[in-house]
Amino acid sequence: MLFKQQALLRQKLFVLGSLAIGSLLYLVARVGSLDRLQPLCPIDGQFGPRSQDEIALRALQFKRGLLHEFRKGNATKEQIRLHNLVQQLPKAIIIGVRKGGTRALLEMLNLHPAVVKASQEIHFFDNDENYAKGIEWYRKKMPFSYPHQITIEKSPAYFITEEVPERIYKMNSSIKLLIIVREPTTRAISDYTQVLEGKERKNKTYYKFEKLAIDPNTCEVNTKYKAVRTSIYTKHLERWLKYFPIEQFHIVDGDRLITEPLPELQLVEKFLNLPPRISQYNLYFNATRGFYCLRFNIVFNKCLAGSKGRIHPEVDTSVITKLRKFFHPFNQKFYQITGRTFNWP
Ligand code: A3P
Repeated sequence: MLFKQQALLRQKLFVLGSLAIGSLLYLVARVGSLDRLQPLCPIDGQFGPRSQDEIALRALQFKRGLLHEFRKGNATKEQIRLHNLVQQLPKAIIIGVRKGGTRALLEMLNLHPAVVKASQEIHFFDNDENYAKGIEWYRKKMPFSYPHQITIEKSPAYFITEEVPERIYKMNSSIKLLIIVREPTTRAISDYTQVLEGKERKNKTYYKFEKLAIDPNTCEVNTKYKAVRTSIYTKHLERWLKYFPIEQFHIVDGDRLITEPLPELQLVEKFLNLPPRISQYNLYFNATRGFYCLRFNIVFNKCLAGSKGRIHPEVDTSVITKLRKFFHPFNQKFYQITGRTFNWP
């Protein structure tokens, strides 16, 4: 009898406990997503008519769920028509710089409910073969989105490819251009590390960074080495400025995006005339990865792939000093043109 009563009591306690834990989890989920449940502010400027912007975020989140399905390729033509989904040309492009943090920037901006990313690098403007396929081909590469949303793509090769500024200008002369930069020497070493990994995978031999970055005949910085050339930001930017005024560019600090992403993202939201929607809740530091990762909601979060955040090889300090000295005047010019100063050595 006593045993039966004890079993009954245990059962009751179990049910009560489960209810308490369930309620707690529900509350955590609600609080966690509170900032994403505010009504969506109107998006100023060119990104869409007000009436469409006034969709409540709750409805938008529901739609984002659907969008996710569409992106996975599960949408029928009927669904696309019913939900007014369209494939829009990008209103903003992350044009570079390679290894600056372009993937992190795109993924983090995609946390914004009014932003839809093109997942793949499309290489439309820098690849002659793709470019010859025409603008409709490019548009069809874009993800489905709602008319009030903006599409963003990133192809870091755009920044350094001669023909690209004119081609983008021909598509949309008022497009917004994002450039994410890192301290030039670190960026060059990151660039080298990526190529090195590819060579190692194919069992190919490769030179040390020092040998590539410094010309053995002159002992000067080797400006023919692509990783060095890409880090001369001002040279590339000057080509772009022949087509676009500086106001159409926004420079993102890639070093700060690693350590303190939110303020950098808030500056981008402002530049894109988007209401501030990305919050601290959406970003959490993952000690194992050593980087910030993304939180979409209580169940869905993700870190960038392991190919982002590689360990760089040790580089001779005299080579680093030489490179930093070399980049210094170009950096000064870059600060002057962009109006954004970095503490690069
Ligand atoms: P490293 O691999 O040198 O560390 P890109 O996407 O343009 O190729 O840039 C890659 C760089 O993004 C990485 O360079 C890494 O430092 C940086 N990065 C910035 N934020 C990151 C994040 N949250 N997770 C992983 N990498 C990030």
